[in-house]
Amino acid sequence: KKPPTRKGSLIDVSDDLIHQMKGFETIFTVGGDKLKSIVKHFSSELEKGLTKKGGNIPMIPAWVMDKSTGKEQGKYYACDLGGSNLRTVLITLNGDGTFDTTQSKYKIPHGLRTTQNREELFGFIADSLTNFFQEQFPDGVDEGVTIPLGFTFSYPASQTRINEGILQRWTKGFDIPNVEGHDVVPLLQEQLKKRGTPIETCALINDTVGTLMASLYADPETIMGVIFGTGVNGAYFDVVKDIEKLDGVLADDIPGESLMAINCEYGSFDNEHLVLPRTKYDVMIDEQSPRPGQQAFEKMTSGYYLGELLRLALVDLTEQGLIFKDQDITKLQTPYIMDTSYPSRIEEDPFENLEDTDDLFNNDLKIKTTVGERKLIRKLSELIGTRAARLSVCGIAAVCKKRGITSGHVAADGSVFNLYPDFKPRAHQGLRDIYDWTEKDDTKLPISIVPAEDGSGAGAAIIAAVTEKRLAKGLS
Ligand code: GLC
Repeated sequence: KKPPTRKGSLIDVSDDLIHQMKGFETIFTVGGDKLKSIVKHFSSELEKGLTKKGGNIPMIPAWVMDKSTGKEQGKYYACDLGGSNLRTVLITLNGDGTFDTTQSKYKIPHGLRTTQNREELFGFIADSLTNFFQEQFPDGVDEGVTIPLGFTFSYPASQTRINEGILQRWTKGFDIPNVEGHDVVPLLQEQLKKRGTPIETCALINDTVGTLMASLYADPETIMGVIFGTGVNGAYFDVVKDIEKLDGVLADDIPGESLMAINCEYGSFDNEHLVLPRTKYDVMIDEQSPRPGQQAFEKMTSGYYLGELLRLALVDLTEQGLIFKDQDITKLQTPYIMDTSYPSRIEEDPFENLEDTDDLFNNDLKIKTTVGERKLIRKLSELIGTRAARLSVCGIAAVCKKRGITSGHVAADGSVFNLYPDFKPRAHQGLRDIYDWTEKDDTKLPISIVPAEDGSGAGAAIIAAVTEKRLAKGLS
């Protein structure tokens, strides 16, 4: 194997294919001016979402009204139903900005995302929590004691109080009947009760809000919590008097200057397809998804879809007779067979002739690739990954524009942020292009994206602590 290099030119491919690649470059590249116009529209859509009439972006008040002081203390449970795992966490907040955690992960069983029986989902969560509880407290707890739980449920859920979450609609490929339109807290409580597990959900939390709070606990410069993962979303604090839809909802004695965390749910930005530069592959993803017409922004940027975008483009090239000639592409034709680890591993392939990519296609998809084809696949992955990073930061710039924020730290988490090669520099470059910044050092940009503290663990605990101190008494 040759020594690692990063870039390579296309070789041994036909002129037709080179022409097609140039076409991909055109349709997947989003320039600075386009980003600026997206941000402008995005920010007005955020405003719309806060009105009583509402808009496409839900802008859900999260009922977290106090910023963390870093002084909260006590023991809490958190559980996080993420894209692929359920995580249960026992958190001890030490009262000095530090915390300790013990956790377990449970793989979400295959098929659970689309089970026809909602009890299977909530039963699985309750089983995992019960299991975890029995490990932590083998002798049980005293009669009457309940353990407070911050339940991170990262789907758009309306809240009129902190321990409620009425699912508006499933996202990220989940599709389980009889949950949309229902409060998920009693659905979980019912299953916990059946198992006799003394855990009480005292806060339902979106992952972005948890990320915001956990990061504020340690860093007062935090301006947003964002997730670049299976889904894409952000949370920030807004001023109560600017949140029209809270008029008449909040108690009269709450000052207009108070703050309220907002879970934007901006994955649904541009559902009416006005500004985002969609390709035919984006249209296919949307049409073939369980919820066409929804989560337009998320479908172009989040980890759930990046591998599928690559797959659709490769199938298209094969059908045009441009690549994988005379090969059986049955596997490649399976929807979602390539998750985001594919473009990610392809971009990470250190070899001049992309031997890792060769292995990947050989072993997983039973397709033999030429060096030229692999270079093309690599280039396509770079285009898809770069577009996702650049578009993703439009959500950040739109929130900052709406709030008049010009500096601070955006606390980020999620598989794409943490694992996808070059996501961070590409995202920062996107911000540079939006703001015309010339500073080269990412860490010195006025608004920079930093790794978040553990939002769905510590964040959930902090929220539980700042809002429901009462319930915690039994444990701490
Ligand atoms: C999806 C969900 C949202 C979540 C995001 C990141 O957009 O609707 O609630 O915050 O994914 O996990």
